[in-house]
Amino acid sequence: MKVIIVSDKNHMGRVAADLIEADMRTKTPYVLGLATGSTPVPLYQELIRRNRETGLDFSTAISFNLDEYIGLEVTHDQSYRYFMNHELFNHININKDSTFVPDGLAENIEEVGKDYEKAIRAIGGIDYQVMGIGTNGHIGFNEPGSSLASRTRKVRLTENTILDNSRFFERKEDVPTDVITMGIGTILDTRKAMLLASGSNKAEAIAKSIEGPITATVPASSLQMHPNVTWIVTEDAAVNLQLEWN
Ligand code: F6R
Repeated sequence: MKVIIVSDKNHMGRVAADLIEADMRTKTPYVLGLATGSTPVPLYQELIRRNRETGLDFSTAISFNLDEYIGLEVTHDQSYRYFMNHELFNHININKDSTFVPDGLAENIEEVGKDYEKAIRAIGGIDYQVMGIGTNGHIGFNEPGSSLASRTRKVRLTENTILDNSRFFERKEDVPTDVITMGIGTILDTRKAMLLASGSNKAEAIAKSIEGPITATVPASSLQMHPNVTWIVTEDAAVNLQLEWN
């Protein structure tokens, strides 16, 4: 397990892009696991820049997103499909047919979860999983108490997460209560993983996840069991770490 402490979120984006770019050059087709939210935006901006200016090629890349709200149309500006198109896919040379986000509009979400797992397995697994972290320690939308063996499934958001995410919606009541998310077991199966965290509001969750006990109460602590995980954390999010990491 590696922890890299960086000065700010743009630095975080560059370090994350370096790791992904180096790994992408070793394998074709390359399978990315992607996240939404504000944290990975500097990484996506850096990947867009490299695609345009230095020829980082996504033409054969495949991607699977961690999660999606249940019940939001894909044209809704807070749906994660919309977010991914606008923050990354529309600006790089990836084939949109090779980008997968769980279908939060399907009638049978349980089946969507099973099919998502099957599709990931059929392609040979995810090569690099990108993640952010909730202030409550969630990864994907695996809220505290999620089984460490969980797979892609429907989850009810906690009040804490609804409040955190209400900043993206007009009213708190507009935040969907249910989501579909890859499970912790799904995330632990990825070949490499990176967790990005910026901002002092993540400091407590980061310290508990990196240096605390592995517990379902802090879902990101499960990454201590991942065979190849890198945490890229800005200084303000790293203030509560006690061990020497760099
Ligand atoms: C998003 C996701 C979530 C976010 C987390 C942090 O796909 O799975 O776990 O990474 O809620 O969100 P931000 O980055 O907005 O603070």
